[in-house]
Amino acid sequence: MEHQQLIQVIQNLTGVYLTEDKKYLLDTRLNQLMKDYNLKTYDEVALKLLQNDDKEFYNKLVDKITTHETRFFRDESIFDALVKQIIPEWMEKNNVNKNQITKKLKIWSIGCSYGQEPYSIAISIKENLSFLFPYTYILATDISKDVIERAKRGIFTDFEINRGLPEFLKNKYFEKLDNKEYKLKEEIKSIVEFKVHNLINDLYPTGFDIIFCRNVLIYFDTETKKKVINNLINSFFNQEGTLMLGSAENLYNLIDNYIVREYGLARYYEFSKNVTFFRRNNRI
Ligand SMILES: C[S@@+](CC[C@H](N)C(=O)[O-])C[C@H]1O[C@@H](n2cnc3c(N)ncnc32)[C@H](O)[C@@H]1O
Repeated sequence: MEHQQLIQVIQNLTGVYLTEDKKYLLDTRLNQLMKDYNLKTYDEVALKLLQNDDKEFYNKLVDKITTHETRFFRDESIFDALVKQIIPEWMEKNNVNKNQITKKLKIWSIGCSYGQEPYSIAISIKENLSFLFPYTYILATDISKDVIERAKRGIFTDFEINRGLPEFLKNKYFEKLDNKEYKLKEEIKSIVEFKVHNLINDLYPTGFDIIFCRNVLIYFDTETKKKVINNLINSFFNQEGTLMLGSAENLYNLIDNYIVREYGLARYYEFSKNVTFFRRNNRI
């Protein structure tokens, strides 16, 4: 079956670029959906998407085509960096201290999947900087409506809960339900707002101090990555802030006005209006 037109349509709608070696994903993931909708060829699927009159079909296809792999405290060192270096430096810069919290901390978790990432951020702040917790807002977004609906519930299976979450945090912040699932406490949920947001076609929210965009850009081609990164810089408060990428991702060859910072094994990126060229690991 001819894949090319559908691959292009999917890329235009979602940014997800299925390279030659990923074409098989169409066969494995769209098989049942095509049967359900009585679509015989990939061209028919592409046409249905282009007609843009069946939101439910679009949502189902997006959910099938995207990869939602995630876990609690993925790349643990990032969460240490967050509470031991990034937020303390943000507090210093903004004259925020325990007794004087004059500014709300705004964090955006992009491609949040089932919620493990934003909830790990919220738990880290509650555990390490509890005075700041009520003044923290986390926006968590994903292109997939299905994952956002599940993430909002804050309920995780036994398998999900045992991936990355230390036992003491499980006992402290989750309630075991009768069906053996685990429900996150309302207090942690209360600072996280979930929304469907597509990095490719939607307007970007603004005013963030820290943006997590981990393991999302890997699915995009270079031009799309560049556009997204430039949009993210505009989403920072005053175009200044901290960007976290996945452990296998970097900004090399995408833009050049950033500083690479490190904390333990974690590596992240800082943007400041004063930086007009790439700098490694030093402060302005
Ligand atoms: C591999 S998961 C990463 C989850 C989490 N950030 C982590 O690192 O564990 C990638 C997520 O990005 C989402 N995604 C893919 N394309 C997107 C787009 N154009 N806009 C927003 N989210 C997108 C997918 O639906 C998926 O849930």
